[in-house]
Amino acid sequence: MSERLTPAGRIEIDGRIFNPYSKDFIRNPDPSWQVLLRDYPIAWHKDLQMWLISSHELCDRLLKDTRFSPYFGHWEHAPPPKAEADKNDFDRAYERGFFAVTNREHLRLRKLTMPAFSRPVMGRIDAKIRDLVVGCFDEIGDADSFDAYTALAAKIPVRAIARMVGVPTDMEAFFHQFAVDIIKCTRINIGPKEREAAMRATLPGFEYFKTVIAERRALPHPGDDFIGNLVGAVENGERLDDYEILSVIFALITAGSDTATDLHTYLLHALLSHPDQLALLRQQPELMENAIIECLRWGSFGKMPFFRFAVADTEFAGQLIRKGQGIGVNISAAWHDPAKWPDPTRLDITRRLDGNIVFGSGAHFCIGTYLVRVQGSLMLNEFMRRYPDATLADGTGDIDYEYTHHNARRINRLIVRTHLRQRQPRAA
Ligand code: HEM
Repeated sequence: MSERLTPAGRIEIDGRIFNPYSKDFIRNPDPSWQVLLRDYPIAWHKDLQMWLISSHELCDRLLKDTRFSPYFGHWEHAPPPKAEADKNDFDRAYERGFFAVTNREHLRLRKLTMPAFSRPVMGRIDAKIRDLVVGCFDEIGDADSFDAYTALAAKIPVRAIARMVGVPTDMEAFFHQFAVDIIKCTRINIGPKEREAAMRATLPGFEYFKTVIAERRALPHPGDDFIGNLVGAVENGERLDDYEILSVIFALITAGSDTATDLHTYLLHALLSHPDQLALLRQQPELMENAIIECLRWGSFGKMPFFRFAVADTEFAGQLIRKGQGIGVNISAAWHDPAKWPDPTRLDITRRLDGNIVFGSGAHFCIGTYLVRVQGSLMLNEFMRRYPDATLADGTGDIDYEYTHHNARRINRLIVRTHLRQRQPRAA
């Protein structure tokens, strides 16, 4: 039996109902999601040792509920906190960040970081990202086919963040390694020794940014770019300290590089597997923003839920959630909830997406939506301009997944045929 009702009235499920590591699930998650949505909108998952909530309504409600914290340290199974003397820059940046501070501190952090994400600052970053995206397509050139993962998805996101935070191009390789090590530290599926080594490897990156921040603080005006806005931001007479600024860079890397990698492959996969929708986008480019969100909803690339932890015994959706228990907010399933999205497996770039939670909901709503729109639309526009007849190779793109990825249903192969050579006029 894969579910049982406990005497306390809580429904329990296990990996037979929802197993985010199973290959079948990664290839085709919808059957599992539909079972969860129909029968277990909220249940205790014995293997994950946490609650799992899947319906759109409950996920939206929970993300807005300030009685639950995203801070991992509240989890009943979290390792004991490090002693103050043992903490390094990684620990200090993490503990000052969006997912670790109290609700009040989080609000302060969001207010102080707002100017750095404003339209004028982001607008100045556009040109740098355009250059990067065009450069990736230039490298593909007029090849007969290319792998969208290696040629685009693996190249654009970390470099886009590097350009956003103002890393000079000759330091991009250094920044890339910093990002790889940071992401490694946040994985739940590595051992303590490996995590400690990855953590130590991040320290030169933190040192580099500490120097950049100190240089900016020493200037009469810190500058009107991203870092300058973080250094210069004032709210009620308060400023961001060095670790808070480091925590923002840390958050951009952890929340904005893996997600944007999947953005590129999932956009291309969704549209190339629905040529009618791609044709519609070509005819009506004003649908671009809606199309990006709909493709993300349709593809639902997340494998693991987003986490929250109860800071006190709390009643939610008729269940008693005990202090310290974790809650997996299964927003990928919610994006396919038929109660919210009629015919959820149909891709429709004209779909009305009001109330969607593709970028979360409530206080922790995604801060990177501008960068998602810019990266997504630049990539798709350049792709459509260069390859008007493109298709997925063999109809499927010879698609493959990185089954062991810690967080996402990561597509790591998607072969696109450009059909450019057939187009070129034959010599007489
Ligand atoms: C396809 C791309 C993306 C998707 C689907 C996405 C989705 C999300 C979601 C669902 C959340 C809420 C998480 C929660 O409540 O626990 C979130 C938060 C966040 N995202 Fe994104 N994101 C994307 C790209 C980005 C990018 C490119 C950046 C940065 C450059 C970014 C930065 C952040 C940050 C910093 C947070 C935390 C905000 C806070 O806690 O206040 N995201 N994102």
